[in-house]
Amino acid sequence: MEGGEAALVFNSGMAAITTAILAVARPGDVILHSQPLYGGTETLLGKTLARFGIAAHGFSDGANAEAIRESALAARRLGRLSLILIETPSNPLNTLVDIAAVRAVAEQVGSLDGVRPLVLCDNTMLSPVFQQPLKHGADLVLASLTKYIGGHSDLIGGAVIGSAALVQPIRLLRSAIGTQLDPHSCWMVGRSLETMAVRVRAAAANAEAVVCAMDAHPHVRAVHALGPARGADAVREIYRKQCSGGGSTLSIEITGGQEEAFRVLNRLRLFKLAVSLGGTESLASHPASTTHSGVAPDIRKRIGVTDGLIRLSIGLEDENDLIADLYQALAVLT
Ligand SMILES: Cc1ncc(COP(=O)(O)O)c(C=O)c1O
Repeated sequence: MEGGEAALVFNSGMAAITTAILAVARPGDVILHSQPLYGGTETLLGKTLARFGIAAHGFSDGANAEAIRESALAARRLGRLSLILIETPSNPLNTLVDIAAVRAVAEQVGSLDGVRPLVLCDNTMLSPVFQQPLKHGADLVLASLTKYIGGHSDLIGGAVIGSAALVQPIRLLRSAIGTQLDPHSCWMVGRSLETMAVRVRAAAANAEAVVCAMDAHPHVRAVHALGPARGADAVREIYRKQCSGGGSTLSIEITGGQEEAFRVLNRLRLFKLAVSLGGTESLASHPASTTHSGVAPDIRKRIGVTDGLIRLSIGLEDENDLIADLYQALAVLT
């Protein structure tokens, strides 16, 4: 589905990401990465790997090739730039990173340093149904199977996909540190793959209806969603090149801060309050106090994970029921 030669499964998305990074990076290296990233990945880079002498340097404008190049040059001053980790679209703001531009920067660094950094792309948010990063220049795709691929909120898993040669050292490290997926979950992933394309497309159609309704709501300041006509010209161009659908995870910024966001969340009846995404049931969460609470407040502010931000993962319920639930919950703000 990703168009890769080889794939490995792991016991979580974080296990896949961590094992892939540890197979490539060593102390003294620096990792260039897009921002925002899923909070767990951000914490892994900023806190855990930093303790082992692997530095991280982030860039936030993934649509600007020149800004990515400048960030790469700044990162090189911190150590050997061995990998570039990107998440596109990002969780929770749906910002896009131009995968081909990142690959071109990796090639430039390679010609300066003699070793080309590998490009790792987290494709959790769109799944291979709507985006195949290997076709655009990524060396390895990372995925949390827990989300759209599993699709039923009943398994935790991860995957790394790429060429057989790049996957082999990751396979060896997976055995050495024990991050394999258990047999029962493997069986469940096989079951989920049978319905993945149908689920992902149906949820995206529901999400389109929710986005339209949220765009029009007086207590919604901004809707962070993907689509062919959303965002600045550069963002639309990346969407056109890379994505064949907008997925079904989006964020809304309400009028107000944490207190108002909590009041809205507490009033939801059909949406369940949980931090996962990509399942058949719709979920709502407050990123600043949950998934992204480990991210330093100044970084949260810079990347736009505000206290008034609510993330919605749209599932397969009736679209009118979902919109009605959001409207009755947002009414608490009037
Ligand atoms: C984009 C992204 N990558 C990775 C992960 C981590 O996956 P897991 O929960 O399976 O460890 C998540 C989890 O939310 C995610 O959203």
